[in-house]
Amino acid sequence: MSQKIRVGLVGYGKAGSAVANVLSADPRYDLRWIARRSPAAEPQFHPGTEIPVISLEQKSFEELFGQYPVDALVDFSSPASIHTYGEEVRKRGIMLVSAISVYSEEDMAYARSLGRDTRVLCSPNITLGINFLIAAAKLLRKIAPFADVEIVEQHFREKPEVSGTARRIAETLDVDGERITSLRLGGIVGHHEVIFGFPHQTVRLTHDSIRREAFGTGAAFALEQLARCDNGFYSFDDMLLRMMRAELLEG
Ligand SMILES: NC(=O)c1ccc[n+]([C@@H]2O[C@H](COP(=O)([O-])OP(=O)(O)OC[C@H]3O[C@@H](n4cnc5c(N)ncnc54)[C@H](OP(=O)(O)O)[C@@H]3O)[C@@H](O)[C@H]2O)c1
Repeated sequence: MSQKIRVGLVGYGKAGSAVANVLSADPRYDLRWIARRSPAAEPQFHPGTEIPVISLEQKSFEELFGQYPVDALVDFSSPASIHTYGEEVRKRGIMLVSAISVYSEEDMAYARSLGRDTRVLCSPNITLGINFLIAAAKLLRKIAPFADVEIVEQHFREKPEVSGTARRIAETLDVDGERITSLRLGGIVGHHEVIFGFPHQTVRLTHDSIRREAFGTGAAFALEQLARCDNGFYSFDDMLLRMMRAELLEG
Protein backbone atom coordinates (compact mmCIF):
# COMPACT_ATOMS: atom_id res chain seq x y z
CA MET A 1 0.00 0.00 0.00
CA SER A 2 1.27 3.49 -0.81
CA GLN A 3 2.16 5.85 2.03
CA LYS A 4 -0.61 7.49 3.95
CA ILE A 5 -1.25 11.17 3.31
CA ARG A 6 -0.59 13.13 6.51
CA VAL A 7 -3.45 15.55 7.09
CA GLY A 8 -4.10 18.53 9.38
CA LEU A 9 -7.69 19.66 9.89
CA VAL A 10 -8.62 23.22 10.78
CA GLY A 11 -12.10 23.73 12.28
CA TYR A 12 -13.65 21.48 14.88
CA GLY A 13 -17.26 22.63 14.93
CA LYS A 14 -20.37 20.87 13.63
CA ALA A 15 -18.83 20.01 10.25
CA GLY A 16 -15.16 19.66 11.31
CA SER A 17 -15.86 17.12 14.05
CA ALA A 18 -17.85 14.94 11.62
CA VAL A 19 -15.04 15.27 9.05
CA ALA A 20 -12.55 14.19 11.75
CA ASN A 21 -14.65 11.03 12.33
CA VAL A 22 -14.30 10.11 8.66
CA LEU A 23 -10.66 11.07 8.06
CA SER A 24 -9.44 9.40 11.28
CA ALA A 25 -11.07 6.12 10.21
CA ASP A 26 -9.86 6.21 6.59
CA PRO A 27 -6.77 4.03 6.00
CA ARG A 28 -5.56 6.35 3.21
CA TYR A 29 -5.00 9.19 5.66
CA ASP A 30 -3.07 9.90 8.80
CA LEU A 31 -5.02 12.68 10.53
CA ARG A 32 -2.19 14.14 12.61
CA TRP A 33 -3.91 17.04 14.34
CA ILE A 34 -7.00 19.19 14.48
CA ALA A 35 -6.77 22.95 15.00
CA ARG A 36 -9.51 25.17 16.40
CA ARG A 37 -9.63 28.77 17.53
CA SER A 38 -10.40 28.52 21.24
CA PRO A 39 -8.19 26.92 23.88
CA ALA A 40 -9.42 23.94 25.93
CA ALA A 41 -8.86 23.77 29.70
CA GLU A 42 -6.91 20.53 29.38
CA PRO A 43 -5.23 18.63 26.53
CA GLN A 44 -7.94 17.45 24.20
CA PHE A 45 -8.01 14.52 21.78
CA HIS A 46 -10.55 13.54 19.15
CA PRO A 47 -12.78 10.92 20.88
CA GLY A 48 -11.46 7.38 20.68
CA THR A 49 -8.14 8.49 19.14
CA GLU A 50 -4.83 10.05 20.10
CA ILE A 51 -5.28 12.87 17.58
CA PRO A 52 -4.63 16.15 19.42
CA VAL A 53 -7.06 19.06 19.16
CA ILE A 54 -4.90 22.18 19.32
CA SER A 55 -5.85 25.80 19.88
CA LEU A 56 -4.50 28.37 17.43
CA GLU A 57 -4.32 30.80 20.34
CA GLN A 58 -1.62 28.56 21.80
CA LYS A 59 0.25 27.52 18.65
CA SER A 60 0.69 29.26 15.31
CA PHE A 61 0.40 27.41 12.01
CA GLU A 62 4.15 27.85 11.57
CA GLU A 63 4.75 26.02 14.86
CA LEU A 64 2.11 23.40 14.07
CA PHE A 65 3.53 22.58 10.63
CA GLY A 66 7.05 22.55 12.10
CA GLN A 67 6.21 20.27 15.01
CA TYR A 68 3.75 17.95 13.22
CA PRO A 69 4.48 18.10 9.47
CA VAL A 70 1.57 17.31 7.14
CA ASP A 71 1.14 16.80 3.39
CA ALA A 72 -2.36 18.29 3.29
CA LEU A 73 -4.58 20.74 5.12
CA VAL A 74 -8.39 20.49 5.19
CA ASP A 75 -10.25 23.66 6.17
CA PHE A 76 -13.71 23.59 7.80
CA SER A 77 -13.23 26.72 9.92
CA SER A 78 -13.99 30.26 8.71
CA PRO A 79 -13.13 32.45 5.69
CA ALA A 80 -10.46 34.31 7.71
CA SER A 81 -8.32 31.23 8.35
CA ILE A 82 -6.82 31.00 4.88
CA HIS A 83 -4.94 34.24 5.53
CA THR A 84 -3.31 32.80 8.66
CA TYR A 85 -2.04 29.55 7.12
CA GLY A 86 -1.79 30.58 3.45
CA GLU A 87 1.86 31.59 3.27
CA GLU A 88 2.97 28.51 5.26
CA VAL A 89 1.02 26.26 2.92
CA ARG A 90 2.59 28.02 -0.06
CA LYS A 91 6.12 27.85 1.34
CA ARG A 92 5.89 24.19 2.34
CA GLY A 93 3.92 23.01 -0.75
CA ILE A 94 1.11 21.62 1.42
CA MET A 95 -2.03 20.55 -0.50
CA LEU A 96 -5.11 22.49 0.55
CA VAL A 97 -8.74 21.38 0.50
CA SER A 98 -10.92 24.28 1.61
CA ALA A 99 -14.62 23.64 2.19
CA ILE A 100 -15.42 27.19 3.26
CA SER A 101 -18.86 27.92 1.83
CA VAL A 102 -18.63 31.68 1.43
CA TYR A 103 -15.37 33.40 0.48
CA SER A 104 -15.22 37.06 -0.55
CA GLU A 105 -13.78 37.87 -3.97
CA GLU A 106 -10.50 38.86 -2.28
CA ASP A 107 -10.34 35.59 -0.30
CA MET A 108 -10.97 33.62 -3.47
CA ALA A 109 -8.32 35.56 -5.39
CA TYR A 110 -5.88 34.76 -2.58
CA ALA A 111 -6.83 31.05 -2.67
CA ARG A 112 -6.24 31.08 -6.44
CA SER A 113 -2.84 32.70 -5.93
CA LEU A 114 -1.83 29.80 -3.64
CA GLY A 115 -2.49 27.51 -6.61
CA ARG A 116 0.60 28.95 -8.30
CA ASP A 117 2.80 27.26 -5.69
CA THR A 118 0.83 24.27 -4.45
CA ARG A 119 -2.34 22.24 -5.09
CA VAL A 120 -5.53 23.94 -3.95
CA LEU A 121 -9.13 22.80 -4.12
CA CYS A 122 -12.00 25.04 -2.97
CA SER A 123 -15.49 23.61 -2.78
CA PRO A 124 -18.43 25.49 -1.29
CA ASN A 125 -20.34 22.21 -1.46
CA ILE A 126 -18.18 19.24 -0.80
CA THR A 127 -20.60 16.30 -0.69
CA LEU A 128 -19.85 13.73 -3.35
CA GLY A 129 -23.55 13.00 -3.89
CA ILE A 130 -24.66 16.56 -4.60
CA ASN A 131 -21.71 17.20 -6.90
CA PHE A 132 -22.50 14.01 -8.78
CA LEU A 133 -26.19 14.99 -9.00
CA ILE A 134 -25.23 18.36 -10.47
CA ALA A 135 -22.88 16.79 -13.03
CA ALA A 136 -25.52 14.24 -14.06
CA ALA A 137 -28.25 16.91 -14.28
CA LYS A 138 -25.98 19.11 -16.40
CA LEU A 139 -25.41 16.25 -18.83
CA LEU A 140 -29.12 15.43 -19.09
CA ARG A 141 -29.93 19.11 -19.66
CA LYS A 142 -27.51 19.09 -22.62
CA ILE A 143 -29.01 15.89 -24.01
CA ALA A 144 -32.63 16.99 -23.55
CA PRO A 145 -32.84 20.80 -23.59
CA PHE A 146 -36.57 20.50 -24.43
CA ALA A 147 -37.49 18.80 -21.12
CA ASP A 148 -39.19 20.85 -18.38
CA VAL A 149 -37.00 21.22 -15.28
CA GLU A 150 -38.21 21.68 -11.70
CA ILE A 151 -36.08 21.69 -8.55
CA VAL A 152 -37.49 20.65 -5.19
CA GLU A 153 -35.60 21.18 -1.95
CA GLN A 154 -36.76 20.09 1.51
CA HIS A 155 -35.13 21.06 4.80
CA PHE A 156 -35.84 21.23 8.54
CA ARG A 157 -38.59 23.59 9.67
CA GLU A 158 -36.24 26.33 10.96
CA LYS A 159 -34.18 26.86 7.78
CA PRO A 160 -35.20 30.35 6.64
CA GLU A 161 -33.56 30.80 3.23
CA VAL A 162 -33.81 28.94 -0.07
CA SER A 163 -31.06 26.33 -0.16
CA GLY A 164 -27.81 27.61 -1.69
CA THR A 165 -27.35 24.20 -3.30
CA ALA A 166 -30.75 24.47 -5.01
CA ARG A 167 -29.80 27.91 -6.30
CA ARG A 168 -26.52 26.53 -7.60
CA ILE A 169 -28.38 23.71 -9.37
CA ALA A 170 -30.70 26.26 -11.02
CA GLU A 171 -27.74 28.39 -12.14
CA THR A 172 -25.84 25.39 -13.49
CA LEU A 173 -28.87 24.22 -15.47
CA ASP A 174 -29.65 27.77 -16.58
CA VAL A 175 -33.21 27.63 -15.26
CA ASP A 176 -35.03 30.43 -13.46
CA GLY A 177 -34.85 30.51 -9.65
CA GLU A 178 -38.67 30.49 -9.78
CA ARG A 179 -38.44 26.83 -10.70
CA ILE A 180 -37.26 26.01 -7.15
CA THR A 181 -39.90 24.74 -4.72
CA SER A 182 -38.90 24.84 -1.05
CA LEU A 183 -40.62 22.76 1.61
CA ARG A 184 -39.90 23.23 5.32
CA LEU A 185 -40.93 20.39 7.57
CA GLY A 186 -39.79 18.55 10.68
CA GLY A 187 -36.11 17.70 10.92
CA ILE A 188 -35.18 16.93 7.30
CA VAL A 189 -31.38 17.34 7.03
CA GLY A 190 -31.39 18.12 3.31
CA HIS A 191 -33.25 16.80 0.26
CA HIS A 192 -32.66 18.00 -3.31
CA GLU A 193 -34.49 16.72 -6.33
CA VAL A 194 -34.18 17.71 -9.98
CA ILE A 195 -37.19 16.61 -12.04
CA PHE A 196 -36.93 16.45 -15.83
CA GLY A 197 -40.36 16.32 -17.46
CA PHE A 198 -40.21 14.78 -20.93
CA PRO A 199 -43.33 14.39 -23.11
CA HIS A 200 -43.62 10.64 -22.40
CA GLN A 201 -41.40 10.07 -19.39
CA THR A 202 -40.07 11.66 -16.22
CA VAL A 203 -36.54 11.50 -14.82
CA ARG A 204 -35.90 12.34 -11.15
CA LEU A 205 -32.42 12.83 -9.72
CA THR A 206 -32.56 12.81 -5.94
CA HIS A 207 -30.07 13.39 -3.15
CA ASP A 208 -30.71 13.03 0.58
CA SER A 209 -28.24 14.14 3.21
CA ILE A 210 -28.22 11.81 6.19
CA ARG A 211 -25.29 12.90 8.35
CA ARG A 212 -22.57 15.59 8.34
CA GLU A 213 -20.02 12.81 7.88
CA ALA A 214 -20.90 13.15 4.17
CA PHE A 215 -18.65 16.25 4.21
CA GLY A 216 -15.80 14.00 5.33
CA THR A 217 -16.42 11.54 2.50
CA GLY A 218 -16.23 14.47 0.08
CA ALA A 219 -13.04 15.82 1.65
CA ALA A 220 -11.45 12.35 1.48
CA PHE A 221 -12.37 12.09 -2.22
CA ALA A 222 -10.99 15.58 -2.89
CA LEU A 223 -7.70 14.77 -1.11
CA GLU A 224 -7.19 11.57 -3.07
CA GLN A 225 -7.84 13.27 -6.39
CA LEU A 226 -5.81 16.37 -5.57
CA ALA A 227 -2.82 14.22 -4.67
CA ARG A 228 -2.72 13.15 -8.35
CA CYS A 229 -2.75 16.70 -9.71
CA ASP A 230 -0.05 19.23 -10.51
CA ASN A 231 0.12 22.50 -8.65
CA GLY A 232 -2.94 24.59 -9.50
CA PHE A 233 -6.36 25.74 -8.39
CA TYR A 234 -9.19 23.22 -8.75
CA SER A 235 -12.90 22.82 -8.03
CA PHE A 236 -14.69 19.65 -6.94
CA ASP A 237 -16.22 19.54 -10.44
CA ASP A 238 -12.76 19.39 -12.00
CA MET A 239 -12.00 16.26 -9.99
CA LEU A 240 -15.32 14.60 -10.67
CA LEU A 241 -15.33 15.36 -14.40
CA ARG A 242 -11.72 14.19 -14.76
CA MET A 243 -12.71 10.87 -13.25
CA MET A 244 -15.91 10.58 -15.32
CA ARG A 245 -13.99 11.34 -18.53
CA ALA A 246 -11.38 8.70 -17.70
CA GLU A 247 -14.15 6.14 -16.99
CA LEU A 248 -15.98 6.93 -20.24
CA LEU A 249 -12.79 6.71 -22.31
CA GLU A 250 -11.92 3.37 -20.68
CA GLY A 251 -15.39 1.98 -21.37
N1 LIG B 1 -18.34 22.91 1.61
C1 LIG B 1 -19.28 22.31 2.33
O1 LIG B 1 -20.00 21.43 1.82
C2 LIG B 1 -19.46 22.67 3.76
C3 LIG B 1 -20.24 21.90 4.61
C4 LIG B 1 -20.34 22.28 5.95
C5 LIG B 1 -19.69 23.40 6.42
N2 LIG B 1 -18.94 24.14 5.56
C6 LIG B 1 -18.20 25.31 6.03
O2 LIG B 1 -17.34 24.92 7.08
C7 LIG B 1 -17.18 26.00 7.98
C8 LIG B 1 -17.52 25.53 9.39
O3 LIG B 1 -18.87 25.18 9.49
P1 LIG B 1 -19.49 24.63 10.87
O4 LIG B 1 -20.93 24.47 10.62
O5 LIG B 1 -18.70 23.46 11.35
O6 LIG B 1 -19.23 25.89 11.82
P2 LIG B 1 -19.00 25.90 13.39
O7 LIG B 1 -19.77 24.79 14.04
O8 LIG B 1 -19.26 27.29 13.82
O9 LIG B 1 -17.44 25.57 13.59
C9 LIG B 1 -16.41 26.44 13.16
C10 LIG B 1 -15.08 25.87 13.63
O10 LIG B 1 -14.05 26.63 13.05
C11 LIG B 1 -13.20 27.16 14.08
N3 LIG B 1 -12.74 28.50 13.67
C12 LIG B 1 -13.49 29.58 13.40
N4 LIG B 1 -12.71 30.61 13.02
C13 LIG B 1 -11.44 30.15 13.04
C14 LIG B 1 -10.19 30.72 12.75
N5 LIG B 1 -10.06 31.99 12.34
N6 LIG B 1 -9.10 29.94 12.87
C15 LIG B 1 -9.20 28.65 13.26
N7 LIG B 1 -10.36 28.05 13.57
C16 LIG B 1 -11.47 28.79 13.46
C17 LIG B 1 -14.05 27.21 15.33
O11 LIG B 1 -13.18 27.16 16.46
P3 LIG B 1 -13.76 27.01 17.96
O12 LIG B 1 -14.26 25.61 18.06
O13 LIG B 1 -12.60 27.25 18.80
O14 LIG B 1 -14.84 28.05 18.06
C18 LIG B 1 -14.88 25.94 15.14
O15 LIG B 1 -14.17 24.80 15.58
C19 LIG B 1 -18.09 27.13 7.44
O16 LIG B 1 -17.34 28.00 6.64
C20 LIG B 1 -19.09 26.39 6.60
O17 LIG B 1 -19.61 27.21 5.59
C21 LIG B 1 -18.82 23.79 4.26
